[in-house]
Amino acid sequence: MDKIGLFYGTYTGITGVIAEKIAEELGKDNVNLHNISKDGDLMQNYKKLIIGTSTWSIGELQEDWDNFMPKLQEMDFNGKIVALFGTGDQIGYPDTFLDGMGMLYETFQYRGATFVGFWPTQGYDFTSPLPLLDHDHFVGLAIDEDNQAELTNMRIKEWCKLLKPAFGLE
Ligand SMILES: Cc1cc2nc3c(=O)[nH]c(=O)nc-3n(C[C@H](O)[C@H](O)[C@H](O)COP(=O)(O)O)c2cc1C
Repeated sequence: MDKIGLFYGTYTGITGVIAEKIAEELGKDNVNLHNISKDGDLMQNYKKLIIGTSTWSIGELQEDWDNFMPKLQEMDFNGKIVALFGTGDQIGYPDTFLDGMGMLYETFQYRGATFVGFWPTQGYDFTSPLPLLDHDHFVGLAIDEDNQAELTNMRIKEWCKLLKPAFGLE
């Protein structure tokens, strides 16, 4: 079976911890973890991808993803399955909550990706439009370790249940 490539970008380490929890939930043998700061060029080797980022500087993509953008914009994701997750702070930055995830969605979509793992907006309070698929759904899993850390494990578990059939893991 093809492995899933999970690529994440992190500044203080939070998104990396979430990435590890997702890999554990999907089965560590099924997932290769990659930090985008070093391994971005490996992305083209995978048909199944999980992509994670935080948002910084009021609505900016995490720095390592930002640096990788010129290469990402040249890649072809036609025929590839992509699930997104984002980490952010909905109380501190409601207008730009998870903007980074929204930016990556736009880029992968433009490059032909097929998305799985949309996530309901119920239980969050924010105003940013960028991470939204529609009124009721984020484009991917929304994690807020700053304000709702107690919900994180349950959110990851539920999200991975959605991903498993989409990634052929059950
Ligand atoms: C100066 C600063 C700016 C931030 N800007 C945003 C923002 O615009 N949107 C958002 O959702 N989170 C924002 N955050 C919150 C971080 O994205 C959040 O803490 C995230 O979990 C950090 O993950 P990382 O350590 O993996 O980079 C900001 C945090 C700081 C300290």
